Amino acid sequence: MTKIVSLCKRRGFVFQSSEIYGGLKSSYDYGPLGVELKRNIAAEWWRSMVTEREDVVGLDASIIMHPKVWETSGHVSGFSDPLVDCLNCKERFRADKAPKKEPGESVSFREGGRSDGKKLEAAVTDKGYVCPVCGSPHMSDERQFNGMFKTSLGPVDPLDKFIKGIQGKDLSQKELRAQLEEALASTNVYLRPETAQAMFVQFLNVQQTSSMKVPFGIAQQGKSFRNEIVVEHFIFRSCEFEQMEMEFFVEPGTQKEWLEYWTKTRLDWYKSFANSPEKFVLRRHDSDELAHYSDDCYDVEYEYPWGFDELEGVASRTDYDLSRHAAATGAKLSYFDQSKPDPETGKNGWRYTPYVIEPAAGLTRSLLAFLLDAYTEEKGVDKNGKEKVRVVLKLHPKLAPIKVAVLPLMKKDGHPEKAREIVQAFRKAGVAVKYDEQQAIGKRYAKHDEIGTPFCLTVDGDTMEDGTITIRDRDTTEQERVSVEEAIARVVQRLNS
Ligand code: GAP
Repeated sequence: MTKIVSLCKRRGFVFQSSEIYGGLKSSYDYGPLGVELKRNIAAEWWRSMVTEREDVVGLDASIIMHPKVWETSGHVSGFSDPLVDCLNCKERFRADKAPKKEPGESVSFREGGRSDGKKLEAAVTDKGYVCPVCGSPHMSDERQFNGMFKTSLGPVDPLDKFIKGIQGKDLSQKELRAQLEEALASTNVYLRPETAQAMFVQFLNVQQTSSMKVPFGIAQQGKSFRNEIVVEHFIFRSCEFEQMEMEFFVEPGTQKEWLEYWTKTRLDWYKSFANSPEKFVLRRHDSDELAHYSDDCYDVEYEYPWGFDELEGVASRTDYDLSRHAAATGAKLSYFDQSKPDPETGKNGWRYTPYVIEPAAGLTRSLLAFLLDAYTEEKGVDKNGKEKVRVVLKLHPKLAPIKVAVLPLMKKDGHPEKAREIVQAFRKAGVAVKYDEQQAIGKRYAKHDEIGTPFCLTVDGDTMEDGTITIRDRDTTEQERVSVEEAIARVVQRLNS
């Protein structure tokens, strides 16, 4: 992991946010190569989930939605957990549900304050909880923590409103708190903690304008925000991140087969870009792990350096979201199938609320998994017999930020001009290409190996004579002399395979 973090910084994939101000641990910036890699992953996901399918359409919804959306979805209450700190060992715990407090009973805590932290049982005494890590009876009171970021919408500053509201009044602490909550609530909106809700809220608009027939899906990519108690493992868990989610609406009763279909499809998608496909696996959730909206769920997991952990969730979300939004707004978030008889009345035509299967992937987390999967160190010896290590990022060519580097052997004798001509030819063929004349040729090869460029083309003296160039394969380091046309054909063929 340390090597990946260092490579990301050194080569311009990922930087710490606001680094010159000391950095902000919760967020990251994607540099020139990182942004290309991220866009390539997002494009491949969109291609396989939307463009190449007849049954899925896209959406690009706003990050700030009506605050009632989050009350209805259950995030205002359900995304909130009680936190308890040990005053002795300073360990933080998250209680799974509203904890029982009867002395003699025990309470289930999650280590580290993480929702997926190790489960520990804490004894309850008449004085409170006993720390399950150090055994200390000195634990803080529970405090409710909501993972959604709040902000305010509109020209009125809620604090000005609060100050005006309390002016000249002699209020108790409780009354002051109520006034403050009222002032905040009047302008309060949330940054979305998932992209999913917009696809439920816009279900009817999308279904009707695109004449979609169940089963069909709505897909969306974009930023999500969670005030994570623990941010960890570089970009694995951050407060600002990107998701790629799809809500697939199905007939009630068919959710099991669709869940099977989507878990397999999503697992295969990751494996199709992987060097070590065996590191991508499926894990079914235990019933006590299921989110409040879900009746079954699988995680696509990846074997990170700290062990297997979540990469994507594929959840069976039942009709929870559509039913809740319909009940809250009166909108008819249902589907009418003329060709099917109503199972209750037996009459032709069946109106039902579709069930939902949701493959929910993290774009930034996928980027980390693909970097880890691609990172390779190859031991060898240099021409003086000294041991050397070749660092190669074996990114799938479709994901690689740069597909081809064109390298003039010398900065004279017409090499740069010829190389730029070749760059133009690749651009014309729609291939992401870079001209690179810095440093000795060996160092340039090493750099492009390290950033995952699948092909390096070298322009040398022979090129000036017969127009041929050498094409070097990143993974094998083998070089061949070919014409420019042949090089373009090979690269394009590799990118389309
Ligand atoms: N709509 C369902 C949903 O959001 P989730 O399992 O909470 O489900 C889906 O999130 C995916 O989003 C995760 O599998 C992970 O890849 C990514 N993700 C979630 N929280 C994240 C965080 N704090 N940082 C980075 N990625 C995150």
